[in-house]
Amino acid sequence: MTAALTVRTDLSSPDPIRFAYWVPNVSGGLVISRIEQRTSWDIDYNRKLAQIAEASGFDYALTQIRFTAGYGAEYQHESVAFSHALAAATTRLTVIAALLPGPWNPTLAAKQIATISQLTEGRIAVNIVSGWFSGEFRAIGEPWLDHDERYRRSEEFIRSLRGIWTQDSFSFRGDFYRYNDYTLKPKPGARLPEIFQGGSSRAARDMAARVSDWYFTNGNTPDGVRAQVEDLRAKAAANGHSVKVGVNAFVIARDTEEEARAVLQEIIDNADPEAVKAFGHEVKNAGAASPEGEGNWAKSSFNDLVQYNDGFKTNLIGTPDQIAGRILALKEAGADLALLAFLHFQEEVKYFGEQVIPRVRALEAARERRAEAA
Ligand SMILES: Cc1cc2nc3c(=O)[nH]c(=O)nc-3n(C[C@H](O)[C@H](O)[C@H](O)COP(=O)(O)O)c2cc1C
Repeated sequence: MTAALTVRTDLSSPDPIRFAYWVPNVSGGLVISRIEQRTSWDIDYNRKLAQIAEASGFDYALTQIRFTAGYGAEYQHESVAFSHALAAATTRLTVIAALLPGPWNPTLAAKQIATISQLTEGRIAVNIVSGWFSGEFRAIGEPWLDHDERYRRSEEFIRSLRGIWTQDSFSFRGDFYRYNDYTLKPKPGARLPEIFQGGSSRAARDMAARVSDWYFTNGNTPDGVRAQVEDLRAKAAANGHSVKVGVNAFVIARDTEEEARAVLQEIIDNADPEAVKAFGHEVKNAGAASPEGEGNWAKSSFNDLVQYNDGFKTNLIGTPDQIAGRILALKEAGADLALLAFLHFQEEVKYFGEQVIPRVRALEAARERRAEAA
């Protein structure tokens, strides 16, 4: 039976949901807590983690870019160099390198990523981050643009990247970037690097609906995800564009729900209040700075902020069965990818691959059968 004959009553894609993990290339893990974390930001730990992840059913790894952090996360490896090292240590995984317009311009970024694409048979993608941390820009002497101006620049950055990667004699006249008959040689390999981009504000979604391949959003409930997906798809359709969606989540999968909830409580009880407040101060400014006041973190509580991207809100906390069911609900709300963080990355990525992914695949197969029968 073909997909055309199946009946879909929700926003789900016929494709299996994909899994990505946050690369811990920044110290302190993915929670602002003094709880023990058997996670390291060093390269040996990360190479092994990448190998475990690809063997466990993960398709993507996302590196982070940070130049300074006033809230913990004190040491940070650079994202493009680190992404290449992880791609070189694996055979199947696609590594998404974070790029921050301002410190990067599209010329250098397009060249770096094209070379990595050539060296890794196309297993490199990019995440265009628009910036939320004014203190970081001040520290490195970069001008700090208003919220929506940052997105205007990011959109020109993406249009430039795509133009340089796909056209000879590329010309572009923007307010931020200009090209005159520029031809990049060599271009990326046959598989063009996918362009991811993250946010929750209207400007972030409007940009995604025009130019991005993927839109990442902070942790959220299925209803919260659905509202964003409906808005995004309607706008993208009006632009003749289509965009896939990745949702952040912090996973605590344990054999019993009580164990998983106890770990969450311990993370929050051990939160570093000063660091959480410092992080909250910066991100609240960023979220409130979007004209409609709906940016990432605009409504995050203290407990939410203990995980950098609201990952507790997605509630992938419980037994493998509970988590698999919730992942299916995210898929039905329109998510194409789950972007995951863990407390003890290596061991928990392996457990997730053994215990959760097969359950998700079984649920997906059952719902495809139901859709075909309908
Ligand atoms: C999944 C994801 C990954 C992100 N990675 C980074 C990063 O590595 N470095 C960074 O400075 N910002 C990062 N951001 C922040 C975004 O680029 C953006 O600045 C932020 O979400 C604020 O957007 P908003 O105000 O439009 O909602 C990330 C956001 C998301 C959702």
